[in-house]
Amino acid sequence: MKRREFLTLSLASATLLVSGCGDSSSSGNSMVSSSSSNSSSSNNSSSSSSPNFSSRLAIPPLLEGESISGVLHFDLSIQEGKRSFFEGTSTNTFGVNGSFLGPTLKMKNGDAVSINYTNNLNEPTTMHGHGMHLPAVMDGGVHQVIQAGETWSAQYTVKQKACTNWYHPHLMGKTAEHVYKGIAGLMILEDEESVNLDIPKTYGVDDIPLVLQDRFFDADMELDYSPNTMQIMRGYIGDTFLTNGVVNAFVDVQAKEIRFRILNGSNSTVYNLGFKDGRSFKQIATDNSFLESPVDLNRVTLSPGERAEIVVDMSNLENETIYLKDFFQGKDFLKINVKALEIAQTKTPESLASLKKYTIADALNSRRFTLSGSMRSFYINGVSMDKSVINEKIPVNQVEVWEVKNQMGVNHNFHIHATHFLLIERNGKTSNVADNEKGYKDTVYIPPNESVKIMVKMSDYTDKSNPYMYHCHFLEHEDAGMMGQFTVI
Ligand code: C2O
Ligand code: CU
Ligand code: CU
Repeated sequence: MKRREFLTLSLASATLLVSGCGDSSSSGNSMVSSSSSNSSSSNNSSSSSSPNFSSRLAIPPLLEGESISGVLHFDLSIQEGKRSFFEGTSTNTFGVNGSFLGPTLKMKNGDAVSINYTNNLNEPTTMHGHGMHLPAVMDGGVHQVIQAGETWSAQYTVKQKACTNWYHPHLMGKTAEHVYKGIAGLMILEDEESVNLDIPKTYGVDDIPLVLQDRFFDADMELDYSPNTMQIMRGYIGDTFLTNGVVNAFVDVQAKEIRFRILNGSNSTVYNLGFKDGRSFKQIATDNSFLESPVDLNRVTLSPGERAEIVVDMSNLENETIYLKDFFQGKDFLKINVKALEIAQTKTPESLASLKKYTIADALNSRRFTLSGSMRSFYINGVSMDKSVINEKIPVNQVEVWEVKNQMGVNHNFHIHATHFLLIERNGKTSNVADNEKGYKDTVYIPPNESVKIMVKMSDYTDKSNPYMYHCHFLEHEDAGMMGQFTVI
C-alpha cells in the first residue's frame, strides 16, 4: 500500500524484467512471476497484519426493470462518489447509482429493454453491454459517446441464452481509467432453460455475484491509475484485491450448493481461482451460456472480461470456513462462512443446456488476427485502432473460423462484441480445448505466444456503417490500440 516504496521496488524489478519482456514462456507464467514480485514487495511494506476478512461482502442491488408499455426500463446514473475501502479513509470513486460499481440488471430472453444511462460525470464516457447480442448502434462501444449531463439509452430485445454479462465504459483511450475508478456492473440473463433448472438461483443467498478486481491505492488512499510502460505491457496488477468493491470481504452462506457468478473485472490481471483447501467445484457456465453438463474442477483461469459460473457443494460444511483464492497472485479474495440451511436444497443436474454446435465443416470463410506490439503501441494485424477505419466486413449468418495468434511474450485475450463464439482449437489442436471452455464465449485467454481458433457467426443486425469492436480485453492494451472494428453486412 505504500505506493512510493513500492514504486521504487517495482521500478527496480521492472528494469530487470525489461530484458525478459520479449522472451517467451508458453505457460503464461511469465506474468505470474512479475506480479508475485509486486505483491511480495507490497506485503513486506505492510506486513504487520494479515488480513482478517471482517468486511461484509457487498451484494450489488438487483434491478429487474420497470415495465412501461411492455418495455423494461432501467435508469442508471454514472456518477462520482466517495468510498471507504479501509477503516477511517475516504477515496474518490466513480460508480453507477452508487459510489463504486453498479447494480445488477436482470432480464430474460425475449424482454424488450431500455437501459437509460445518465452521465453525471464531468467528462464523456460510454457504456457497453459486454456479451450482449444487440444492434451496433446500441452497443455502447467507442462511437456511442455520452457527453457529461446527457442520457443515452440502449434499447433492444434480449435474444440470447441465459448467462452473466456486464456493462462497462468503452471510451476510446479511457476505458481502463473509467473501469479502474469503479464503473462496471453485472447483467444476469435468464431463459426458459435456466429458470427450470434445479440450480441455486436466489440472488445474494445461494446465487452470489462476485466481481473480482485489484487496485493500487496511493499515499492519500486515492485509486492510483498510473501504469508505467512495463505495467502497460505486462499488466497493471494492483496489490489490493477487491471483491464487489470490498477489501478483505467475508460472506455468510447456507450449507447447500452455492453458485458464484464470477467476473474477472480487473484491468489486466489473470486469475487462477479455486478454494484454498483445494476442494473441487463444478463449472456450469462460460461467458455466454451454460455448459452442456457441469465440469468438475479445482481451478478455473479467468482473464479480464471473462466470466465463469461455478457451483460449490457446501452442504457438509456447516460451521466451517473456506476461502476463495487466486493461486496466480497467491492471495485470497473472499472468506466464506457456512451457516445452517434455511432454504430448499438444490441438486444441480447433469444436463444443463443444449447448445447448437457448429463444426469446422460448417465454416465458409476464415480470418486471421495477430496480436503484436511494443512499448506503448499495440496492434491487431499490424495496425492500431482507428475509429474511422472498418477493419473487417463480416457477412451475416455465415459461420467463420477465426485464428487469433498472440505474437508476444505477454498475456493477451480476444473479445468480440455482440456475438458468441465457440473455441475449437488451442495451439492447433482440438484436444487442447478444456471441457470447461466448451460453452459459448465472447472472450478467450491467449497466453504468451499461443494461438486459438474460434467459430464465429454474426447471426443478426446487418448495418453497413456502424461497426462493432473486437479487441484485447487487457484494458491497458485496448487503450493502447489493440482493437479493431467490423461491420456485419
Ligand atoms: Cu468488455 Cu469491448 O468490451
Ligand atoms: Cu464487449
Ligand atoms: Cu492484450
